[in-house]
Amino acid sequence: MRRRMIRVRGQGYVSILLRVLHELKQGGTADVFFALDLNYDQGFFYFIEKGEDNMQNDGKIVIIGAGHVGSHCAMALAWRSVCSEVVLVDIDQKKAEAQAMDVADALSFPSVKTEVRAGTYEDCADAEIVVIAVGEPRQPGQTRLDLLENSARMLRGLIQELNLIEISGIVVTITNPADIAADYVRRGLQMDRFKAFGTGTLLDTARLIRIISEETGTERSMISAFSMGEHGDSSMIPFSHISIGGQSFEAYSDLDKEKILHQTRMSGMDIINGKNSTEFGIGQVVSQLCLCILQDKKMILPLSVYLEGEYGQREVHCGVPCIIGRNGIEKIIKLALADEEQLQLEASCEIIRKHIALAQEAAPL
Ligand SMILES: NC(=O)c1ccc[n+]([C@@H]2O[C@H](COP(=O)([O-])OP(=O)(O)OC[C@H]3O[C@@H](n4cnc5c(N)ncnc54)[C@H](O)[C@@H]3O)[C@@H](O)[C@H]2O)c1
Repeated sequence: MRRRMIRVRGQGYVSILLRVLHELKQGGTADVFFALDLNYDQGFFYFIEKGEDNMQNDGKIVIIGAGHVGSHCAMALAWRSVCSEVVLVDIDQKKAEAQAMDVADALSFPSVKTEVRAGTYEDCADAEIVVIAVGEPRQPGQTRLDLLENSARMLRGLIQELNLIEISGIVVTITNPADIAADYVRRGLQMDRFKAFGTGTLLDTARLIRIISEETGTERSMISAFSMGEHGDSSMIPFSHISIGGQSFEAYSDLDKEKILHQTRMSGMDIINGKNSTEFGIGQVVSQLCLCILQDKKMILPLSVYLEGEYGQREVHCGVPCIIGRNGIEKIIKLALADEEQLQLEASCEIIRKHIALAQEAAPL
């Protein structure tokens, strides 16, 4: 943790205030600030702790499903001090308790104040964010859509439990198939589309940025790119909106669109083939999403949101870039897609739409 102490000699509170404002303007996000008037004539001391990841944020996040994904979300949230409390809920109570204890053990060196514990569905009532990570990992060779029937049945049971509770916070669904599951949960809980959404192509976007970084040798934060559409085999990439340090994708003549699209889509299965589940990547992107919500960051991330005419699409959930803040999704960003990209997005939406209907058949709400 970076702690800065600045001594201001022989000056008053106004000088101190100006120095603090200056620090904040330089990019500091002070969460701890105190001024100590030791001796007015000799000076004051004040401390500023800087850096968003060092901030201890308030707020309770409940994760339902304490498996590979849920436990890694808990770890990333706690490790980054995104909230003050992480609660793991699972139908296997012993598993939830074991995962919570294991994560809590990781928070002693260095010490992190976030409390991690097992809980029950009732914990969702006053949670700022409820993350739904129930389900089962894909098997090698399975598509996410192959998980549909089981996931829909699992989610139906969960929705019945959650409808007994009044959820006041935001609901984020991770369960695959992600877009269909997000739609199912939003409908089941009868929530506003900007308060109940799915992680969609957020993980695909993290993968895309990694791949472009590896291909170009560019630092990841200099790359702006989105994966959109289905979190699945029909996801698409609007290459016309990629910026690599201010340069367009086309400026890099060595880059191969088809190869990058294929690698982005296949990363999940490559990981599953090697270790039977994906967990670290999703844990980190969910912690970033929750950070944006709790800190009202207004970052633009792609999420699976119910579309009401955006991109010419209705009655479908799919991954599109959104501004994220304290209220959840604050705005859907409408990128001007090239004709070919628009057709790819439409094709992806058509697949999702078809499977939304199949989920409803498998487990009617
Ligand atoms: N959206 C993404 O980017 C993404 C990434 C990775 C995995 N996933 C998906 O996340 C889901 C979970 O994957 P995993 O690897 O953690 O599976 P897992 O089997 O390790 O864990 C799932 C957990 O959910 C629990 N569970 C089932 N029904 C429940 C209920 N009603 N209430 C509480 N807990 C319940 C199970 O007991 C289990 O512990 C799968 O659908 C997987 O495909 C999505």
